Amino acid sequence: MRKVSVEVCCGLHCSLKGGQELLDLIESNPLFQGDQFDFIPVNCLQCCDDGALSPVVSINGENYMKITPERLVSTLRTFIN
Ligand code: FES
Repeated sequence: MRKVSVEVCCGLHCSLKGGQELLDLIESNPLFQGDQFDFIPVNCLQCCDDGALSPVVSINGENYMKITPERLVSTLRTFIN
């Protein structure tokens, strides 16, 4: 089974605009505790337009801008077999 790569931006803009909430959610949600996902904190993904599009998460190389915790959960659910 190929792991889903989830890069969570920990750059300044994303951290200030909800990135920490995403990290907290990932740590606390049982959905993400298995080995299906590979969560990787990264620095600025260079696509946030100085925070206008923050927070950003990249899933298997595709960037998701202004992502909310709810949308992160629903998006990652689509990767669960
Ligand atoms: S600070 Fe997150 S993409 Fe720029």
